[in-house]
Amino acid sequence: MSEQPPMIRVEGLRKQFGDFLAVAGISFEVAQGEILGFLGPNGAGKSTTIRMLCGLLKPTAGRIHIDGVDVAADPDALRKRIGYMSQKFSLYQDLTVRENLRFYGGVYGLRGAALESRIGYALEMSGLTAHPETLVSALAGGWKQRLALGCAILHRPRILFLDEPTSGVDPLSRRRFWDLIHDLSTEGVTILVSTHHMDEAQYCNRIALIDRGSIVALDTPGQLKRRSLGGELVRIECASPDRAMQALAALAQVRDVAVFGNSLHALVDNAADAAAAIVERLRTRGIAAARVTQIDATLEDVFVRLVSANHGPAGTGA
Ligand SMILES: Nc1ncnc2c1ncn2[C@@H]1O[C@H](COP(=O)(O)OP(=O)(O)O)[C@@H](O)[C@H]1O
Ligand SMILES: [Mg+2]
Repeated sequence: MSEQPPMIRVEGLRKQFGDFLAVAGISFEVAQGEILGFLGPNGAGKSTTIRMLCGLLKPTAGRIHIDGVDVAADPDALRKRIGYMSQKFSLYQDLTVRENLRFYGGVYGLRGAALESRIGYALEMSGLTAHPETLVSALAGGWKQRLALGCAILHRPRILFLDEPTSGVDPLSRRRFWDLIHDLSTEGVTILVSTHHMDEAQYCNRIALIDRGSIVALDTPGQLKRRSLGGELVRIECASPDRAMQALAALAQVRDVAVFGNSLHALVDNAADAAAAIVERLRTRGIAAARVTQIDATLEDVFVRLVSANHGPAGTGA
């Protein structure tokens, strides 16, 4: 991504629980300011990996460097640099909003005016400025989630680990939460965020698809979608789709074409090149092509395809 050394560098990371391999030797890097999404089903190994990256769980094998710090060698230096929001949010339900912020600020070594100023920031960011004395147990999910993020960034960490921060939260709050993540990334904070919501992957710069302790793919959302098809997809809106399909089936630029309702979907190598050829072919056959637009496969398609490849032939799974 740039000349700078990566903020997160993971090499051959493994975690074994008894004879169960939860993380199967993964390697990846994250650049400064990047948002890397960990996308995968329950039990894939996302939380286990994040806990090792935060120094909370000892790896069976492998090396982790965070902002140049060897996590195994210098856990104290690590703690100053990172913020961690666990899957359960870890807020004290019987304390108020302000008391939670005070507590976490203290854990991170903030005192006096510096602490008060950061609490003010966290209240504003989470939209809780008017409710500092509310008990956390009385807050709705979206507020808890933003407060937990506020607690995790009180000490201005350069790297943020968010473990399924949006699970169990309504769609509007999820959207707001992603806006906050983007603001932090714009300020240069490096973010690793796990989710099992496929639709959230589009908000990440890159996505690691995780399954059974392995990274089965790591790329930008756009690249992942293109790769799953082995080409690009275009939608052709025109008169008489059935005739148009016959006209296009023999076209060199079109690898596959199918009718979808009133339009056609064609698999091509390059959408821009193919669009011109398609319009020209239809024109010579007397069919007015209204519009040719490139469309995306969904990440769900990609995930299903890659995960089933990772599980071997159908019917052999446990
Ligand atoms: N402390 C543990 N002891 C034994 N097995 C564990 C432990 N922690 C996690 N696992 C297992 O490791 C696998 C990965 O879990 P986890 O990392 O929590 O997955 P994810 O966060 O992707 O849902 C699961 O099968 C889980 O049951
Ligand atoms: Mg988890």
